[in-house]
Amino acid sequence: MPGSAVTISSRFALISVCGPFLLAALCAGGSVAAQAPKEPETAVLTGSPLGPVTFAHKAHTKDHGAKCEMCHHASRPEKPLKAEHQKCTDCHTKVATPPMKTKTQAAFHDPMAKKGTCIDCHVQAAAKGKKAPTKCADCHKKPSAT
Ligand code: HEC
Ligand code: HEC
Ligand code: HEC
Ligand code: HEC
Repeated sequence: MPGSAVTISSRFALISVCGPFLLAALCAGGSVAAQAPKEPETAVLTGSPLGPVTFAHKAHTKDHGAKCEMCHHASRPEKPLKAEHQKCTDCHTKVATPPMKTKTQAAFHDPMAKKGTCIDCHVQAAAKGKKAPTKCADCHKKPSAT
């Protein structure tokens, strides 16, 4: 039948144009996986007066051993997730408004950057000789004044 022949050939066209990555996404979860926003290459967080933090997102999950759920925690009743892997800063604002308790800084580290989401792993990695920053200015970089 001509109808089904068209369907099949257009599917082949889609697959060969979009390549194995899309194919894998389609096989893995159909439309849900295809619609979910992709993990960013880099996330730049500009909230701190100490200077923005450039976070090599993909390098962390691909090379530094970070698992999604170490940072993107499960939905909580105080403020449920609107989307999987929603931005931290949608919920963790500069000043936490009740019922939220965890402000932006605390979502990432305690006031002295001794522990927290970003620091615990860095302390361990640094102890093994890796270049995982624990000093304020190694993460918060003021743009050079030019
Ligand atoms: C070490 C912490 C960490 C890990 C691990 C991590 N993420 Fe993220 N992710 C972040 C941060 C920080 C942002 C930027 C949030 C913001 O701007 O408030 C982000 C942003 C995102 C965004 C963009 C959200 C938006 O709406 O702009 C997606 C999608 C995402 N991550 C998916 C993933 C997936 C998938 C994984 C696992 C493969 C993962 N993340 C692992 C910290 C992490
Ligand atoms: C949809 C809203 C929402 C998003 C998005 C969100 N959180 Fe949360 N988070 C919460 C709620 C609600 C709590 C529990 C109440 C509180 O501590 O303020 C919480 C608690 C926390 C805590 C306190 C420790 C704990 O586990 O209870 C940390 C740390 C944290 N979040 C980090 C993050 C990071 C990092 C991101 C982004 C990768 C993120 N959160 C994204 C809502 C959110
Ligand atoms: C699972 C462990 C782990 C977690 C969690 C983690 N990091 Fe890292 N990070 C590393 C390691 C390991 C390195 C050093 C990589 C190397 O050997 O050069 C690193 C390096 C860095 C660097 C410097 C080099 C680069 O790749 O840009 C920055 C900046 C950084 N991390 C920011 C963050 C931020 C911000 C968070 C929290 C949102 C975070 N990291 C969470 C393991 C982690
Ligand atoms: C491993 C990287 C890392 C280190 C080290 C680090 N920070 Fe942060 N810090 C972050 C990230 C990521 C955020 C959230 C993004 C933002 O708001 O800029 C943050 C947020 C903050 C905020 C809150 C900004 C806001 O939006 O309200 C302050 C203040 C802050 N850091 C101060 C410090 C101080 C002081 C130190 C050293 C004692 C330090 N940080 C060390 C990564 C780091």
